[in-house]
Amino acid sequence: MTIKAGVIGYPIKHSLSPRIHNFWLKKYGIDGEYKTYEVKPEDLENFIITLSQQGLAGVNVTLPHKEKIFSLIRENDESADILGAVNTVICNDDELAGFNTDTYGFTENVRKHVKDKDKAVVLGAGGAARAVVLSLIKLGFKEIIITNRTIEKAQKIKQLFDIYAYYKDIITVSEWNDRSEIIIDTDFLVNTTSLGMIGQAELAIDISLLPKKAVVTDIVYNPLETMLLKQAREQENIAIDGLDMLLYQAVPGFRKWFDPHKRTLKNNEPEVTQELRDYVLSDASLS
Ligand code: ATR
Repeated sequence: MTIKAGVIGYPIKHSLSPRIHNFWLKKYGIDGEYKTYEVKPEDLENFIITLSQQGLAGVNVTLPHKEKIFSLIRENDESADILGAVNTVICNDDELAGFNTDTYGFTENVRKHVKDKDKAVVLGAGGAARAVVLSLIKLGFKEIIITNRTIEKAQKIKQLFDIYAYYKDIITVSEWNDRSEIIIDTDFLVNTTSLGMIGQAELAIDISLLPKKAVVTDIVYNPLETMLLKQAREQENIAIDGLDMLLYQAVPGFRKWFDPHKRTLKNNEPEVTQELRDYVLSDASLS
């Protein structure tokens, strides 16, 4: 029987998720389908509670539904609980389980490059920044500075993690205008803002104070080589683009929906390869 899954959002046209999952379905010869479902906010609850009746093994969730879905599902994983947002839903018989795989995606993308973990700087304080901060905490960073144009949003993230006593005092908040200075002594710099993305303003930052050993990453993947990454490479910092975060965040959903009995995938993981990157990048919506 064909296993069905998909991605829900509103609007949903530009999602790259079908490309990722359909690439893997074909590669591993799995009898499955992955489609987009445009679900209006007012139809969301009904769509979610009828997932199994619709024959869906689960869904990915994108804007604007991630927070609402979280409140509709009783069983959420730790990451979804902390972030208050769900991007992957698994249907086990009639029970729904919610996951947030953005933290996993970010961690997998940077893990092998991160060596020194004394200090990280996070630019931005939106939804993506929360997942990134959680990843950095889990990776073991001792100090994380968040800077954002709207400082209150950075303070909110600090408060969120201060609730978890274990994470207390790791995070400090800094003025956006100081972003080029606070990166001194930093091991890891990440842009989580939308600046630098096609159609957006450039991220204006001077990274000359960044130590040579620092790793720089951008969660923007369109363009793949943002100005920040270009500047980083030019001064010989390791620069990691954001595409693999998108690819890795798709891994947990794929394996749970399409290989639930762990029979098909080696190590129960669909692989993130250069071939997959090239295939996703050939999408017409990317430059
Ligand atoms: P996401 O959930 O993808 O992180 P978001 O919640 O819209 O998206 O967050 C976008 C981030 O980009 C925010 O940190 C935002 O800063 P504000 O919180 O001050 O809005 C940042 N951002 C967007 N445009 C910006 C600009 N022109 N200058 C500085 N920061 C900007």
